[in-house]
Parts: sequence; structure tokens; C-alpha cells
Amino acid sequence: MKIIPGMSSQLLAARIASELGCNVSLCEFKKFPDGESYTRVADGIKGEEVTIVQSIITDSDLICLLQLLDTVEGAHETTVVIPYLGYARQDKKFKPGEAISARAVARCLCRDTIKSIYVVNVHNNAILQYFDNDTKDLDASHAIGDYIAKKEIKHPVIIGPDAGAKELAKAVAAPQGFDYDVLEKRRISGDEVEITPRTLSVEGENVIIVDDIISTGGTIAEAASMLKVQGASEIHVACVHGLFVQNATLRMFTAGIKEIIATDTIESAFSTISIAKMVAEVLTR
Ligand code: R5P
Repeated sequence: MKIIPGMSSQLLAARIASELGCNVSLCEFKKFPDGESYTRVADGIKGEEVTIVQSIITDSDLICLLQLLDTVEGAHETTVVIPYLGYARQDKKFKPGEAISARAVARCLCRDTIKSIYVVNVHNNAILQYFDNDTKDLDASHAIGDYIAKKEIKHPVIIGPDAGAKELAKAVAAPQGFDYDVLEKRRISGDEVEITPRTLSVEGENVIIVDDIISTGGTIAEAASMLKVQGASEIHVACVHGLFVQNATLRMFTAGIKEIIATDTIESAFSTISIAKMVAEVLTR
């Protein structure tokens, strides 16, 4: 098998290749003066079994993936790993006339030449229905739970910042026997809301807030501030996909976060958990 590393997933692709003991193809990426992207796979791929690894973080990443799919048309078998599938949050029409962006992206990726597509903790796995190819969602929550367990944080309590993060909080916590809960917003009066865990008390506890995506850090900063007011001791944050746009990291540290943990679906200074092994395992099945 040959691994084709996309522009946005160079490190993860190299780690997957190392897990599998296979080659990584050298690719060339550049921009023309007018901003158009150029992509070239230097090695021949005719008759080969190839796996493209490319997260869709920006619009250019989507173009790069489309170009890579075009270059591998002569391959014997093509698998696509999209560690972070952007546009998944626009999974329905919230207002009349809106595009269902997740569907638009899925439709442009599907083709007969693809054997399987793997995504990782996709924001809403109902969008997998928009893919015509066999598409599976891999779950990095075990890797996050294992990592937290190894850090030997005394009695960690896993908290999801909203109801949407409940399944992730449970999946991180349950295999390790950690307590978990989600934050809930309650209106106390016309101008007062209280945000507290649904059932647990966090007083004196070491809390790990978990979410699938951190973008501006606003959700996490708000959750951390509330948990501090309620007497939480240390507050750590762990996510699968760390976009960390604008001043997200500063915002979270200012809100009292001690540590930021992310996986390498999106490469950043906080990508301390690698999903390479999990991906390599499914590729060898
Ligand atoms: C939303 O549904 C996601 O699960 C995340 O909570 C959200 O994307 C986080 O965004 P931000 O970091 O900008 O608050």
C-alpha cells in the first residue's frame, strides 16, 4: 500500500505509514499567482493500492483532496481517510435557502473508483448518508480516555459543555471508569442564567472538558469560567479536532484552562494524541 499525504495531513499520514511499514508518496503542492492550487503526486501509482490522507479544514484542502483523487485514477484500489471533515456542522438547512454544506461536500467526493472513505468523529454521523461510497466514522474517544488515564490526574471528572457532547463525554469516561456529565443552561430570571453540570458537583474536582471540535474556544472558555465559579480545582480540555481559530488558545487559558489536549486529525502544537494506530488498524482489516 502507498500512503498519499494531503497538504493538511502530512504528519498524520507519515505516522500511519510508519505504523503500516509502507511508503509515503512525495507530493508537490503550490499556489499559482491567482490563488489556484496545484497538486502533483511524484510517484507512479498505476495498479497500486493507495490511501489518501487529507483533512478538510479549509476550502483549499477540499480542492487538494479533489486533485489527489484525480491523480490516483489509475490506482488499483483507492481508500480515502478524511481525519477532519469540515463543513459537517452545516448538516441541515437552519434557514430557508441555505446549502446543506455537508451534503454538498459529500457529493463532490463520491466516485466509483473509491473503495472506502473513513472520517473521524464526524460532527453528526447522520451525514454519512450523503456519501454514496462505503463511509465509516472512526472514534478517537478511546485514545483520549487512555491518554487522560496515563496522565494520572487525581479522580478526573469528564464534562461535556452541552447536551451535544454527552455521547463523547460518556465514550471518553466509561471505559476508564471516570465520572461524566454535561453542562446544562437553566434560566433563573429574565436576565440570569446558570450553567451547571446536570447531576454532578465539581467542587474540588479535577475536570476535563471534552468536545468534538474547538474552533474559537468560546464554548470551552464559557464552560471553564462557570466550572471555576462552582469550585472546580484543575480544568483541562480535550478535543478530537482542534481548529483553534482567532485567539482561541489565549481565550481558553485566560478562562482558567490548565492544559489543552487534541488529536492529530488537525495538526497543532496541542496534538499530543495520535490517531495513526487506530487508522492503521482499519486499513489492514
Ligand atoms: C458545536 O456543535 C461543536 O460541537 C463545538 O462545540 C463548537 O464547534 C465549538 O466552537 P467554538 O470553539 O467556536 O465555541
